[in-house]
Amino acid sequence: MSQLDRYAVMGNPIAHSKSPMIHTLFARETGQKLEYRAILVELGQFADAVQAFRTEGGKGLNVTVPFKRDAWRLVDERSACAALAGAVNTIQFREDGTLYGDNTDGIGMIRDIRDNLGVALAGKRVLLLGAGGAVRGVLGPLLEEKPATVVIANRTPDRAQELADAFEEQGRVEGSSFADLDGTRYDIVINGTSASLKGEAPPLPEGILARDAFCYDMMYAAEPTAFMRWADDEGCERVADGLGMLVEQAAESFRLWRGVRPQTAPVIKAVREALLKG
Ligand code: ATR
Repeated sequence: MSQLDRYAVMGNPIAHSKSPMIHTLFARETGQKLEYRAILVELGQFADAVQAFRTEGGKGLNVTVPFKRDAWRLVDERSACAALAGAVNTIQFREDGTLYGDNTDGIGMIRDIRDNLGVALAGKRVLLLGAGGAVRGVLGPLLEEKPATVVIANRTPDRAQELADAFEEQGRVEGSSFADLDGTRYDIVINGTSASLKGEAPPLPEGILARDAFCYDMMYAAEPTAFMRWADDEGCERVADGLGMLVEQAAESFRLWRGVRPQTAPVIKAVREALLKG
């Protein structure tokens, strides 16, 4: 049996996950000895898969679509961030046999936007598109940056309003439909809808970007996403995808498990190159 500490990411689908590459690069860079693999889990089988991984000596897990909610339910203890997000993307198997759940998606996105891309969030008018798990996961850390206001816009406006209500104690946040955005300008627009997966951009009114606005898609692909192309068409000069977020959330998971935070810039570069090669 392998002597290396074992980690994995669980999801469905999982074949194209970049997490094994990212964590292998982190381990090499920090001199940590571990193995990290991707595990495909059938729907309804998440708890059993976690138990099986624990039995074979697993130390920690990343959890991705569609199991983040199941992971939230399964863990024995949650970080404040995970509790608020209603989702867990990182599990630590503790020595006493209990499971600790964290959510590093939000801090990963903040680190990418604020530190890697140099875009301050404090005092800005922020528009968040979507009201599903992706947006819920980042709202807490986003509001901690003290933006002037956060507007959540969604195809189903009631979901945006529900989310705004759930986070009202964390900062200034309101819900909206896409059409009602007309007439207001935003400094930062973040796409957390899954529209990009279908090659679509959310139906946004024209002229909602402030001068020098910054647009960010939580999704990433080898080519610019439909939302990034929309931003470009609106004359936006600062546009980014979520590949940096992916690497940053992984770095936070790695730090939780191993007590050391890896350098992310070389890994973002390597993953981008791998993505472009296909
Ligand atoms: P996730 O956990 O990835 O956020 P989700 O909970 O299914 O997934 O949420 C998907 C989000 O993308 C929702 O906000 C959804 O809008 P609805 O709440 O109205 O369903 C949004 N979405 C999906 N496809 C979209 C599209 N083509 N245009 C605009 N919004 C879309």
